[in-house]
Amino acid sequence: MGNVTITNHPLIQHKLTLLRDKNTGSKEFRALVSEIATLMCYEATRDLTLKEVEIETPVALAKTKVISGKKLAFVPILRAGLGMVDGVLALVPSARVGHIGLYRDPETLQPVEYYCKLPADIEEREVIVLDPMLATGGSAIDAISQIKKRNPKSIKFMGIIAAPEGLQALTKAHPDIDVFCAALDEKLNDHGYIVPGLGDAGDRIFGTK
Ligand code: PRP
Ligand code: URA
Repeated sequence: MGNVTITNHPLIQHKLTLLRDKNTGSKEFRALVSEIATLMCYEATRDLTLKEVEIETPVALAKTKVISGKKLAFVPILRAGLGMVDGVLALVPSARVGHIGLYRDPETLQPVEYYCKLPADIEEREVIVLDPMLATGGSAIDAISQIKKRNPKSIKFMGIIAAPEGLQALTKAHPDIDVFCAALDEKLNDHGYIVPGLGDAGDRIFGTK
């Protein structure tokens, strides 16, 4: 069974309050999503494998550590996951980035896939899937199923706000992945929106409503 981590560091909680506020405009909203992603990435990469190397400091030879292997691939779920990419690349600039395009059918709430482009060497990488919102869980479950077909070394999911319904569905469908969220909210409303949530993440990032 994968672990569920609620990354409730005070800096994240503070930024999340600003993010939830309906008076926060798109420019600030984008900056906050990116900053929260950076802070969460620090936690989500805590278990990366290290190897020892020898380097020369100005003073002496030193045996020290670097991250080993082919490292990471980030896969944002379009559109809203795109808002997290800059923030995670700030910490891991050499990571590859794949994209999965999904939107929720407004009537059925089922995910509809329209795009999938993953790194060619994904089998050698640890994947972190990015999407700020885990509502019913349908989009994350579907995206992870697509990625699993390509046999990456491991998969983690990094979201910002989760509904209990989505978290339960995701951990049931993919019990092998680790999940990182900044907040676990109260519930979903009748339209599948997270309560209290932050509204439609894609629309708030891209100013489309
Ligand atoms: C939002 C969000 C997630 C999905 C979560 O995307 O970014 O991808 O809904 O809902 P779920 O857990 O019930 O699947 P949306 O479908 O609004 O598309 P967009 O990002 O292009 O606006
Ligand atoms: N997608 C969003 O952007 N917000 C929600 O509350 C639920 C799904």
